[in-house]
Amino acid sequence: MTAADPFSVAGRRIVIVGGTAGIGWAVAVHLTNAGASVVITGRRDASGPAMQAGMTFVPMDVASVPSVRDGFAAIAEQVAHIDCLVLNAGIDVHHGEIDDLDLAVFEQVFDVNTLGLARALACGIGSMRAGGSVIITSSPAGSVTTPGMAAYSASKAALDMLVRTWALELGQRQIRVNAVLPGLVESEMDAGSTGELEVIRRMTANGVHRSAADMGPVFQFLASAASAPLTGSLVGAHDGIGVGYSAEVMAHLAADPPDAGTRS
Ligand SMILES: NC(=O)c1ccc[n+]([C@@H]2O[C@H](COP(=O)([O-])OP(=O)(O)OC[C@H]3O[C@@H](n4cnc5c(N)ncnc54)[C@H](OP(=O)(O)O)[C@@H]3O)[C@@H](O)[C@H]2O)c1
Repeated sequence: MTAADPFSVAGRRIVIVGGTAGIGWAVAVHLTNAGASVVITGRRDASGPAMQAGMTFVPMDVASVPSVRDGFAAIAEQVAHIDCLVLNAGIDVHHGEIDDLDLAVFEQVFDVNTLGLARALACGIGSMRAGGSVIITSSPAGSVTTPGMAAYSASKAALDMLVRTWALELGQRQIRVNAVLPGLVESEMDAGSTGELEVIRRMTANGVHRSAADMGPVFQFLASAASAPLTGSLVGAHDGIGVGYSAEVMAHLAADPPDAGTRS
């Protein structure tokens, strides 16, 4: 890539909150290989792998305000400013349906997925300057849900609105805020049952279970000048999950039609 390439992220200082595994790690590797200077954060100690991959690691638990403050203070000692802040940390923990709801887990999901990313932006925004890009990892689950996914879906729906609000708040400072909505992506989070993952795969238009590496170029686009007109956007990198009923879902329903007598 040359300096004139609008997709270039060479020399950009990029911080990935929740970059120690899965999509965050794969994006960090991609951006580092594309010439960016990358700092990853997370709860586990990833200093070894980060150093081997040419990045820096800073510990940070987004569920803790002091941890987020300390983390960004440590980052400020390493980089003069942040060009791109990726807010990617997220969890999806089973909390049951409404009659059997584990409220502590319900709160924990919001505390990380929504409040945690707000904490991170509040503490990190002071290090950003004009031309900066904030990228938030949301999910199609923010607009299409299933039984038992209340906290995860609602936490991501809230994020989608925060993306729009923050885009409006930061536009005057020439800082853009967008979201990436991955579909079914291999990671620690999607380590559910094979059957469950196969059902989700069939709900995508493209019929794909992606590797996390496939997300790298999408984040690069939003981190680069090529995406300059985008702010407040929810970028669906989801293979069409949630845009409607996939061909596989329709074929399944057609193969098992309800009895004519059950229709009212
Ligand atoms: N995989 C998918 O199919 C899929 C689809 C749509 C959206 N997403 C979203 O993509 C993002 C990444 O998920 P993933 O699939 O890559 O999952 P993952 O492999 O479990 O990675 C989650 C990342 O978030 C970090 N994290 C979790 N809790 C944290 C906390 N309290 N403080 C700081 N960091 C924390 C983890 O780091 P530590 O464990 O080191 O703290 C890890 O780096 C999430 O926001 C998720 O909702 C995933």
